[in-house]
Amino acid sequence: MASTSPESAAATETDGSIQIRRLELADHERGFVSLLSQLSSCPDLTASEFAARFTELAAHGDDHVILVAEDSSAQERRILATGCLFVERKFLRGGGKVGHVEDVVIDATARGKGLGLRVVRRLVEIAREAGCYKVILDCTPELRAYYAKCGFVEKGVQMAVYF
Ligand SMILES: CC(C)(COP(=O)(O)OP(=O)(O)OC[C@H]1O[C@@H](n2cnc3c(N)ncnc32)[C@H](O)[C@@H]1OP(=O)(O)O)[C@@H](O)C(=O)NCCC(=O)NCCS
Repeated sequence: MASTSPESAAATETDGSIQIRRLELADHERGFVSLLSQLSSCPDLTASEFAARFTELAAHGDDHVILVAEDSSAQERRILATGCLFVERKFLRGGGKVGHVEDVVIDATARGKGLGLRVVRRLVEIAREAGCYKVILDCTPELRAYYAKCGFVEKGVQMAVYF
């Protein structure tokens, strides 16, 4: 099955009926795009638009990991959660690597059950295994407590230019 990495099995984690694994091409049909729209503006993508972006991201291999969670006991295969890790390769720190956690969202029906914690912790583990010296993310002040539970500490100030 097409997934964003040939080493996709290494990212897979199963606890109870919930499996966390790498994004697959077929997840377009399993509600992945509409799940993202619970986080930010995310208009639907046609199958070919989705496939084009999927292929582009898959070319980054383990430097761009999108995890999804699904309930393997459910009759209909639906994506319940997602989160992304982007690995930035630097000249600093002897050619060090920094992990960036992005686009974490849990379906409204599945929140408050520890799934968000599992997805982010797994992304952090993958970053550690990839040799990153730190993992960073941006979030709103309301999510400080959640990310603290995931092991993050507050550091610096976020700044942005939007276009
Ligand atoms: C924020 C979000 C990812 C949390 O996922 P979740 O699966 O509901 O969280 P969990 O059940 O794993 O919670 C883990 C811990 O964090 C706490 N927590 C979760 N959401 C929280 C919040 N908004 N504020 C404070 N604490 C929170 C939980 O109480 C829990 O603590 P406990 O272990 O002491 O019980 C989810 O609510 C979500 O998708 N929100 C909308 C999208 C979003 O804001 N994404 C983050 C973008 S930066």
